[in-house]
Amino acid sequence: MSDTTGNPLDDPATDPFEVASAAADDIARLTGVDHHDIALTLGSGWGKAAELIGETTATFPATEVTGFSQPALEGHVGTLRSVLTPKGRRVLVIGARTHYYEGHGVRRVVHSVRTAAAAGVRTMVLTNGAGGIKHTWKPGTPVLISDHINLTGDSPLEGATFIDLTDLYSLRLRDLARTIDPSLDEGVYCQFRGPQYETPAEVRMAKTIGGHIVGMSTALEAIAARQAGMEILGFSLITNMAAGIQTTPLSHQEVIDAGREAEPVISSLLARVIGAL
Ligand code: HPA
Repeated sequence: MSDTTGNPLDDPATDPFEVASAAADDIARLTGVDHHDIALTLGSGWGKAAELIGETTATFPATEVTGFSQPALEGHVGTLRSVLTPKGRRVLVIGARTHYYEGHGVRRVVHSVRTAAAAGVRTMVLTNGAGGIKHTWKPGTPVLISDHINLTGDSPLEGATFIDLTDLYSLRLRDLARTIDPSLDEGVYCQFRGPQYETPAEVRMAKTIGGHIVGMSTALEAIAARQAGMEILGFSLITNMAAGIQTTPLSHQEVIDAGREAEPVISSLLARVIGAL
């Protein structure tokens, strides 16, 4: 039974894995593909990669799939697509991210990841646009995520579910990405709740506790992906220097613009990495 929002994930009595399984059935029906190998979640700036990975064999609004939400934001395309790579691998491209700051709960945030797992995916590629703490990272720099600090205080795990997060962001996949672009740097991603950008003091705190990247996504999704047994590759596009690292105020427009400018270069990098998976 779903509640008045019509999303079955909002009913605490529903098993989120059953909803993910129903969503995977929807995807199989809408794509004609019953098993996907790789899933790719597109953050700000990474959208063009979908066209470069291979041949798109199906595109549809995410809202046609059980449990998916309407996109909250301009710059976040609410579509899913199935892409066939030259090597014959099936990639589920997720252009519909539900952010934690939307306040719909973690089940909805990680639903796309659980759906990908239910669709057979073993490799989860998570991308985002984020603020950079390292001074050497200019806006437009893509970096690998080496680890994360989850500052949301929340978790996709329900009950006493103890899972190991050592090597959460696979070293094997990071090394593979560096064979495509040896200049790729890496850093620790701090997921803040948002939607406000961080204060300079919060950015200093993130730096002090070992963070290099600040953002509002990815960590909760990575935890759900690990729970599902997937291997994870994480990429951040540094769209701006984090608050206080840059002296001028942050704006959402600046983030979107930096994403647009970097898009051709980072999308082609991402497509080459996915081609090598
Ligand atoms: N902080 C958090 N999220 C972000 C930022 C930032 O500086 N830039 C893009 N997304």
